[in-house]
Amino acid sequence: MHPNHQVIVALDCDRRETAEEIVDRLGDACRFYKVGLELLTAAGPAFVEHLVAQGKEVFLDLKLFEIPNSVAGAVRAAGTLGVSMVTVHSMGGTGIMTAAVDAARDFPHLRVLALTVVTSMTDEDLADIGVGESTEEQVLRLARLAAKAGCHGVIASPQEVAALRGVLGSDALIVTPGVTPHGDSPAEHARPGTPRAAIAAGASHVVVGRAVTRATDPAAAFRRVRAGLVV
Ligand code: C5P
Repeated sequence: MHPNHQVIVALDCDRRETAEEIVDRLGDACRFYKVGLELLTAAGPAFVEHLVAQGKEVFLDLKLFEIPNSVAGAVRAAGTLGVSMVTVHSMGGTGIMTAAVDAARDFPHLRVLALTVVTSMTDEDLADIGVGESTEEQVLRLARLAAKAGCHGVIASPQEVAALRGVLGSDALIVTPGVTPHGDSPAEHARPGTPRAAIAAGASHVVVGRAVTRATDPAAAFRRVRAGLVV
């Protein structure tokens, strides 16, 4: 896959104008954006449609964890907006993942990704919610469940990518947030890694947010990430 298609820039902003400015500054170089709950809530679905109309691919990070009927409805709404990826929490179980996959069938372009264990969580955090497994064991367990439910791929931290590729095979999407260009570790990245290491380990895409969007020159920061992927 071309590096231009592998880097997804997370537009974590609270105003449409800020997001538009970043998209303008990145220009044709960046074709893939993640819109999460903050921007969706602040700017509304019209902004997502605007990105799609500009020829951008959109990963709509809804992190769905609801009853199957509501999950299916939200996936259909995402498909109608024209997005390429939507997320469902695999911890919600097979029922909601299957509902998401079934709902996505009407939108051939739409991929359902199962969120395994958010990259800010540690083994202790899992223990706190009654999960005795390590984060890696839990990620692999959930990934197997997601594959069985028909999900097109998973979201996981850079540190689980190699093991996941072994479990999921070559076709699955493995999308990796929590990457920082130098592998440095902002407070909430408990399981960090570099974009290059994630791709080398078998990730299909990396999600980069603040390292690009808060850079003095976002276009230069994006180019550096992209150039770093070529192993
Ligand atoms: O940290 P950064 O700004 O690159 O975050 C980009 C995206 O990656 C965020 O939108 C968030 O959903 C995801 N992320 C994550 N785990 C983290 C940090 C960020 O999944 N620890």
